[in-house]
Amino acid sequence: MRRFTFDTSGTDLTYEAGDALGVRPVNAPALVAEWLAVTGLDAEAAVAVDGAGEVPFAEALSRHLDITRITPDLLRFVAERAHDDHALRRLLRPDNKDGLAQWSWGRQAVDVVAEYGVRASAGEWAGVLRRLQPRLYSISSSPLVDPRRVSLTVSVVRYENLHGRARGGVCSPFLADAGPDTEVPVFVQRSPHFRPPADASTPMVMVGPGTGVAPFVGFLQERRALGHGAPNWLFFGEQHRATDFYYEDELTALLDEGTLTRLDTAFSRDQRNKVYVQDRMREHGPELWHWLRDGARFYVCGDASRMAKDVDRALRDIAMTHGGLGEAEAAAYVKQLAADKRYVRDVY
Ligand SMILES: Cc1cc2nc3c(=O)[nH]c(=O)nc-3n(C[C@H](O)[C@H](O)[C@H](O)COP(=O)(O)OP(=O)(O)OC[C@H]3O[C@@H](n4cnc5c(N)ncnc54)[C@H](O)[C@@H]3O)c2cc1C
Ligand SMILES: NC(=O)c1ccc[n+]([C@@H]2O[C@H](COP(=O)([O-])OP(=O)(O)OC[C@H]3O[C@@H](n4cnc5c(N)ncnc54)[C@H](OP(=O)(O)O)[C@@H]3O)[C@@H](O)[C@H]2O)c1
Repeated sequence: MRRFTFDTSGTDLTYEAGDALGVRPVNAPALVAEWLAVTGLDAEAAVAVDGAGEVPFAEALSRHLDITRITPDLLRFVAERAHDDHALRRLLRPDNKDGLAQWSWGRQAVDVVAEYGVRASAGEWAGVLRRLQPRLYSISSSPLVDPRRVSLTVSVVRYENLHGRARGGVCSPFLADAGPDTEVPVFVQRSPHFRPPADASTPMVMVGPGTGVAPFVGFLQERRALGHGAPNWLFFGEQHRATDFYYEDELTALLDEGTLTRLDTAFSRDQRNKVYVQDRMREHGPELWHWLRDGARFYVCGDASRMAKDVDRALRDIAMTHGGLGEAEAAAYVKQLAADKRYVRDVY
């Protein structure tokens, strides 16, 4: 994990704790060079890019096109151009989504182009590749601490392809590899639903494993700056305490001074059996139920695919076990919490 702090002095950027920052990355120069080498094309060849007009091919590869993702359009194009297209066509069949995902793992777009030795013009590549999209990151600071500083908590995506060549995501390595004075184009994506409680006496429960902890660092800074005295409880989880306890010093200090009332951690790989944040929620179910009865707001941030669903299940189980509710009543209770905006999520 890396924490990045931007100095926004001299811009009109404003934000609130809970907002996300959109980052517009450029592709890695080494990857652009690899694309030029693999396609055998001239860096200066003019290509048309939607919204950007005519630009040199190298600039299109660097700034405007998504040159990493293996999309169905790219595979179809490669299949059409390649002589041996049978395997690729099979991957594109609608009933073969798992096969495609499995095949794509450990490959990037340039690996596919190289593998099939596809020849096409710069304009054709510009037509088949999608536009490069900005990436969103939860803001991990409060403007009440310093309105000109915006922090992010970023997990950097790096891996090796099938041939052991270094590959990575577009935006997180762009941030990680940027020098200290790099200007980074950003914008604020507002999240009006995702704010710390406005009321000074409303307790707050936060569930933020992995980079999901990001906004809660901002929430805690905000409550501290406002002098809100209500209790705050954070559940944090990662793989190993020794290497992945993000913000350990900051969170421990907040705990010592009382801004953070409880900090429960779940380090999943420090013991034989996996322990996750929802296991800690269940262990402390009676207290958690008590906090909810006291009007606490319940926040979840991080992985949407599994964690958020499992935490939702744990919440319903706690309502059943400690609130004496039946399955349907517990579901209705959790639904009402969400309708009352006391159960809010920012998951991705
Ligand atoms: C609202 C919101 C808030 C977010 N907040 C945060 C945050 O606070 N912190 C944070 O770190 N992220 C956050 N994200 C995620 C972030 O936006 C990016 O998706 C993330 O940083 C990856 O972007 P990237 O450009 O580095 O990688 P991309 O270029 O998008 O590449 C990622 C892709 O690489 C592929 N990949 C990974 N490993 C392999 C492999 N071994 N083989 C083949 N392919 C592989 C996967 O398909 C993966 O989808 C948030 C997202 C949203 C929507
Ligand atoms: N699509 C996916 O399959 C997938 C999976 C994970 C993360 N992601 C994405 O990867 C990015 C970065 O992730 P991250 O750095 O925030 O960390 P993360 O990968 O979400 O992991 C953080 C912690 O959560 C644990 N965890 C795994 N499954 C869980 C579950 N069902 N419930 C609760 N905790 C669980 C992990 O344990 P273990 O690793 O030991 O199991 C780890 O200790 C995010 O964008 C996230 O959405 C995607």
